[in-house]
Amino acid sequence: MHKIYVTYPFPDGWLSLLNGKVEIEVQPKNQFLSSNELGERLKNKDGAIVLLSDKIDKTVLNKAKILKVISNYAVGHDNIDINEAKKRGIIVTNTPDILTNATAELTVCLIFTLIRRIIESSEFLRLSKFTGWEPDLLLGYELKGKLVGILGVGRIGTEVSRKLHALGAEIVYYDSSKKKEFEKETEAKKKDLKWILNNADIISIHLPLTKDTHHLIDDKELSLMKETAFLINTGRGSIINESALADALRLGKIGGAALDVFEHEPGVNPHLLRLKNVVVTPHIGSATYRARKGMAEIACKNLLAALEGEEPLYRVV
Ligand code: GLV
Ligand code: GLV
Repeated sequence: MHKIYVTYPFPDGWLSLLNGKVEIEVQPKNQFLSSNELGERLKNKDGAIVLLSDKIDKTVLNKAKILKVISNYAVGHDNIDINEAKKRGIIVTNTPDILTNATAELTVCLIFTLIRRIIESSEFLRLSKFTGWEPDLLLGYELKGKLVGILGVGRIGTEVSRKLHALGAEIVYYDSSKKKEFEKETEAKKKDLKWILNNADIISIHLPLTKDTHHLIDDKELSLMKETAFLINTGRGSIINESALADALRLGKIGGAALDVFEHEPGVNPHLLRLKNVVVTPHIGSATYRARKGMAEIACKNLLAALEGEEPLYRVV
């Protein structure tokens, strides 16, 4: 029987597809392993199901001598050294599609939460500051008619655009290729990054984290944005230089930010947490029952297929 390592004690039944098919060793909750330690655990394993917070680097891979497949429980795979895995002939798989809608809905939710000042309003009420209805109390902005810049039109960027288009926003996008079908469906227009930074009322990030997108949004880019513009990130934290963002927000260079992902998770730049015009959530983009259970099922299917020499549903390399 193939030996498998799973880096998290998933809820009962989520990995039931593996029952009777593989021998499983599960990493207890809150056990944070160094690369060396994780490598040791993987030493005699044929496969692994890992989280986006597990860094699968060269040190890990050097020890995982017989590993055939890494099944990543995420769509993003920046946590894995893909080139090193490829060199060793290790198959890497991920879990797209099933989490697209959940993540797109969270993005829309964050936009409204930010522009209608929901967290601030709730806080205001809880602190007993609501002493009477006032015409100019807690004014915000409407999404309808706003120009939204979507950075990255993959599955999630596309779904976010559809939803925002349906809500009356105007879409412009930044992507390496022109998306004709997408443009037809959402009336979106392709623009370069500078144009979007200069003109968009809301900018939402849906790019994968790569060497090219690391700190794509830095001091210079933030300074190009409108003073009233909002920045949304449900992709990966390191696409934004988080300390540059904290400075821009503190100095009022942009209107606000809503962030589900951070550069040094689970850490968050403390300055961000003090600002009223910042909405933060702890990387819950795909955190719906449907998406998270579905991701587990797909992670199992990917793993089993690879071990049996079949083509996995979603293969990265
Ligand atoms: C979540 O961030 C994922 O990549 O699945
Ligand atoms: C993620 O699934 C993306 O393609 O945007």
